[in-house]
Amino acid sequence: ATISVLNGPNLNLLGVREPGMYGNKTLLDIQNSLELMAGQLGHQLNFFQSNAEHAIIEQIHLAYSQSVDFIIINPAAFTHTSVAIRDALLATKIAFIEVHLSNVHAREAFRRHSYFSDIAVGVICGLGARGYELALQAAHQILLERTH
Ligand code: DQA
Repeated sequence: ATISVLNGPNLNLLGVREPGMYGNKTLLDIQNSLELMAGQLGHQLNFFQSNAEHAIIEQIHLAYSQSVDFIIINPAAFTHTSVAIRDALLATKIAFIEVHLSNVHAREAFRRHSYFSDIAVGVICGLGARGYELALQAAHQILLERTH
């Protein structure tokens, strides 16, 4: 199957950005390990990051037109602000898992609300870069169940 991994603003700075909060791995490190894992599981991975809301929306539209089977998304700060990205996911009806590196519930109050969690298949937060791998594993199993 084809799985898109979408990353929101400032995640291009992973490794440098607040390492105590987000860890030492770069986004490229995460991409490399996910691509390896996806290959082993027999999936095609589209990995994407943008600091621009419209670019993420267009990537979701593209995923729809390319019949992408599943999305893993870390909307980053757009988690707490973006009705527009929420609407793109609702419009395209692509099942998705929401991932956050940090435990958003243990931080500022404004990070507790997500525009995505109520429409996500599941949410993973607080487990660092490992969260993406767990999401990919879960997506793999969900896709298998779909075809049975
Ligand atoms: C984040 C959490 C968000 O609150 C924050 O704005 C981010 C990263 C995370 O992965 O922990 O940019 O999504």
